[in-house]
Amino acid sequence: MHNFAVTGVGGFVAPRHLKAITATGNRVIAAVDPHDAVGILDQYSFDVRFFTEFERFDRHLEKLRRGPAEARVHYLSVCSPNYLHDAHVRLALRIGADAICEKPLVINPWNLDTLQELERETGRRVFTVLQLRVHPVLVELKKRLDAATDRIHDVELTYITARGRWYETSWKGSEERSGGLVLNIGIHFRHADSGIQNPFPALGGTTRLTAWDVPVGFSFTKGGWLQSADRPLVREDAHLAIDLAHRAG
Ligand SMILES: NC(=O)c1ccc[n+]([C@@H]2O[C@H](COP(=O)([O-])OP(=O)(O)OC[C@H]3O[C@@H](n4cnc5c(N)ncnc54)[C@H](O)[C@@H]3O)[C@@H](O)[C@H]2O)c1
Repeated sequence: MHNFAVTGVGGFVAPRHLKAITATGNRVIAAVDPHDAVGILDQYSFDVRFFTEFERFDRHLEKLRRGPAEARVHYLSVCSPNYLHDAHVRLALRIGADAICEKPLVINPWNLDTLQELERETGRRVFTVLQLRVHPVLVELKKRLDAATDRIHDVELTYITARGRWYETSWKGSEERSGGLVLNIGIHFRHADSGIQNPFPALGGTTRLTAWDVPVGFSFTKGGWLQSADRPLVREDAHLAIDLAHRAG
């Protein structure tokens, strides 16, 4: 059984981590979130040390590191806002834990170099959460593409989603804190593309989408991987449409 700690435990995605941690026979022993609406922890354990200040969380994890091996944190799940990821991953490595970090791992690519160096220095690992490649639709598409290796494929993915006005106010609507739409959402599609195509396709140009209240749409093709599309965002009809069209030529 491994011990987990979680950052951003009060947010939207953290419950999935809590569920997965316990479903795999492990346990959560510490968590941090500046917002303290974390009663959800009781669904998993009554013995999770919870902190609203990162510094106190850090101190507690450091104390555990110096105690018995079975009581220290083995994995840190990072579920905090994107711009904090690398800092929280560094805490994991410093206390001798592996990090399981939500996407995107970093906002600026040069922060990756530091994390890679720290992995080497500490001997610990950093894993990121990107799950689309195991989506049944994409697994099926990959099978079809793999079965026709001698042909050129034109894969088009359309994603339409709606968010209310809160999005503009939250960290997700801030390019500085989320990395913008391309990093916060588009990364899933880039990941799906790399999971489907083998060998890894060449990257084309990228388009940063910075206007938050304009239609959100992505058209993504091999070679020109992410482009904005002129699609209306229908707020009253929030829906997600993944429309995968596959043409073999
Ligand atoms: N893999 C996926 O499909 C998927 C889906 C949604 C979100 N995410 C990722 O999960 C992460 C969290 O997203 P979310 O939707 O849960 O956001 P959220 O805003 O609902 O939750 C983030 C939580 O982090 C907390 N937080 C803020 N500052 C903190 C700090 N200094 N230390 C600790 N916690 C802090 C916030 O109070 C909040 O409770 C993001 O990286 C996001 O990109 C991934």
